[in-house]
Amino acid sequence: MTMHRICALSDLVDGAAAKFEVGKHIVAVVRIGDVVYAIGNRCSHANVALSDGEVDCDNRELECVRHGSAFSLETGKPNTLPATQPVPVFVAEVRGTDVYISDQPNNAKAGQ
Ligand code: FES
Repeated sequence: MTMHRICALSDLVDGAAAKFEVGKHIVAVVRIGDVVYAIGNRCSHANVALSDGEVDCDNRELECVRHGSAFSLETGKPNTLPATQPVPVFVAEVRGTDVYISDQPNNAKAGQ
């Protein structure tokens, strides 16, 4: 697993999601304050980009725009239906002023 610099922390809007290509994966990257999360961008319910969804900063969730499943940014698991399968979670780190994301998922079970 290799960490890739994707952007500066200041390039990410606080409380919003953005889409990045990291290695072979498309990843939804979310900034909440000085913490950054990265989950697989494809909703596990249908082929919808999670980066188009709303961030729930209090619950650390990203909500799918299509049917509203709210995915945990920490575990990748959907906390609400209709999605039932998790999405991959990637390692996200802030190093100084830069954001690094792993090119492999952290949760082996989620696959993708
Ligand atoms: S496509 Fe994401 S919840 Fe249905």
